[in-house]
Amino acid sequence: MKLKDNFNRTHDYVRISLIDKCNLNCIYCNPSNTLAKLESNKSILSYEELYRLIKILVRDLEVKKIRFTGGEPLIRKDVMKFFEMISSLKKQYDFEIGITTNGTHLLDKLDGLKKFGVERLNISLDTLNKTKFIAITGKDFFDDTVTAIQKAISLGFKSVKVNAVVIKNINDDELNNFVEYFKSYPITVRFIEYMPFTGNQWDGSKFLSWREMKYQIEEKFSLTEIESDGKVSKDFFVDEEQLKIGFISSISDHFCDSCNRLRITATGQIKNCLFSNPSEVSLKSLLSDESISDETIVEFIQKSLQSKWMKHPSADELAVLNQNNMMSIGG
Ligand code: GTP
Ligand code: 5AD
Repeated sequence: MKLKDNFNRTHDYVRISLIDKCNLNCIYCNPSNTLAKLESNKSILSYEELYRLIKILVRDLEVKKIRFTGGEPLIRKDVMKFFEMISSLKKQYDFEIGITTNGTHLLDKLDGLKKFGVERLNISLDTLNKTKFIAITGKDFFDDTVTAIQKAISLGFKSVKVNAVVIKNINDDELNNFVEYFKSYPITVRFIEYMPFTGNQWDGSKFLSWREMKYQIEEKFSLTEIESDGKVSKDFFVDEEQLKIGFISSISDHFCDSCNRLRITATGQIKNCLFSNPSEVSLKSLLSDESISDETIVEFIQKSLQSKWMKHPSADELAVLNQNNMMSIGG
């Protein structure tokens, strides 16, 4: 049975945070570690609980894509053993596995991830300048990340996307450098509008809309829109090159109408929108209890969608709501 909300939107994409910690301190997400203090002290879902959850999602609720996020998912202990566990489900059910990662701990895991059936890698890289990378992230992992991206491309994953959050006066002068650098690769580079979250010091003066970004790139490259029926990013071919670019316009042009996603935080709370409050009850208490049936868990997940709003609040409203941090949501 499909997972539907009150607006008849089918939810076949679930984003699961594996851990609410990150090894970077990006200025737009986890600046100067302030969010580490906000971290929940509740324990995170175990690999066995996650396995049970994923089985229910793909077997009973027709979920077709699971994307693992964080914090930084690849810093969780024994994470490759978990991907090996999940690969057994891939043999029985029809769904895709993706990971959104900062790429710093990816390189040595790529062969294993490919073997375990991970198909979609989204890797964050906000600058092509090593010094700026350190200024944005607080750490010197530029070479590790870029090398991992190169290797991921050469291994032929089904989809490799590079995610760059664009912030005025920080990296908005680099958009064409990104296009130039990646233009001969069969990947997508996505430029993301900067969103407000707890502690990330968002304000309108640092914001660049997707139209402004596109305008800048069109001064140098010609873009051809790739038709799609409503997704997170507006995608374009660049000249005659292999590269595609995308713009994620969460703030200036939200895409809530076509929202097909549900989020589970590392501690097992359900979030039916990136900007909503997490469910009060955690799935952990249900998943860890063998006397609770899978049907009960299905009902609980279905019910959590009934409160999903039609669209999320505007940027200015979100900036004062102050209730979410990316570390626990995973984007
Ligand atoms: P695929 O479509 O599977 O490639 O990935 P994705 O774009 O859904 O996920 P990714 O983790 O790469 O996230 C890219 C950016 O999109 C991040 O800034 C996310 O916060 C943002 N994003 C993802 N899902 C949503 C959503 O439901 N609403 C909004 N507003 N932003 C989202
Ligand atoms: N605005 C937009 N995107 C963000 N991400 C993290 N914080 C923000 C923000 N404030 C992105 C990361 C990663 C994805 C999971 O979310 O760069 O690509």
